[in-house]
Amino acid sequence: MKHALIIGATSDIGIHIAESLAKRGFLLSLTGRNKQKLNEIKTKLKSKYSISIETYELDVTNFSSHSKFYQSLKDKPSIVFFVAGYYEDQKKAREDQTELLKTIHTNYTGALSLLNIISLDMEEKGVGTIVAISSVAGIRGRQMNYIYGSAKAGLTTYLSGLRSLLFAKGVHISTIQLGPVYTKMSEGHNLIPWLTLQPEVAAELIVKAGLEKKDLVYLRWPWRFIMEIIRIIPEWIFKRLPPF
Ligand SMILES: NC(=O)c1ccc[n+]([C@@H]2O[C@H](COP(=O)([O-])OP(=O)(O)OC[C@H]3O[C@@H](n4cnc5c(N)ncnc54)[C@H](OP(=O)(O)O)[C@@H]3O)[C@@H](O)[C@H]2O)c1
Repeated sequence: MKHALIIGATSDIGIHIAESLAKRGFLLSLTGRNKQKLNEIKTKLKSKYSISIETYELDVTNFSSHSKFYQSLKDKPSIVFFVAGYYEDQKKAREDQTELLKTIHTNYTGALSLLNIISLDMEEKGVGTIVAISSVAGIRGRQMNYIYGSAKAGLTTYLSGLRSLLFAKGVHISTIQLGPVYTKMSEGHNLIPWLTLQPEVAAELIVKAGLEKKDLVYLRWPWRFIMEIIRIIPEWIFKRLPPF
């Protein structure tokens, strides 16, 4: 039986990932912090697709709950989508330690704590796929978003090592180097329309990448090119550029 776990299923992208998987007949386990929102998503999907859906409350930053959560899953998933993430205005994250730690713990340490537990189980079984959403922000620290970016950079590095470690063990890791998507997280940002995806389009591409066992994916090809240019700018020039 095909079983997908979505961590962060109440996110704008996560909701569409859930629908894309439901369409394909996956049994779903959905996690989030908001029980009511999870139930609404479940009810909506159940009205359209005859699949089994379980919901679980899970806070990614509550490390001590992670093992218990995974053990509590009725069935263990064959594919996991790690979608949860947190972005706060850089100035706030810099000046308020609570925001700083929330950014690091949601995008990096919390993600690693959960993915470590899940990947150990998959390794033991010799099968499974993990798809995690990282960000182009992790490719180079820019003054506008380097705290969030550094957490995503750490996530990308972790996923790269895990992919190599588990390749021979039958477990696959897909890293999504996501560029801008129209969601709650990017609200109010100055987004360039032709470089920005709608969440349902991003979700469909993310699901496809995971099912096709892609390694490192840019959903919009120009981002690979743009970030390569940004990456190779010498540091003595980079530090003099205006904020972007
Ligand atoms: N949108 C973009 O432009 C963009 C670009 C690059 C990467 N990304 C990444 O894409 C992913 C999805 O984000 P989105 O754009 O769909 O934004 P979103 O709608 O704001 O989703 C963020 C999700 O993360 C969840 N979350 C935050 N803190 C959490 C915690 N401590 N425990 C559990 N869940 C937590 C939120 O849960 P609640 O519903 O409970 O608040 C929400 O469901 C994130 O990893 C983000 O970093 C987004």
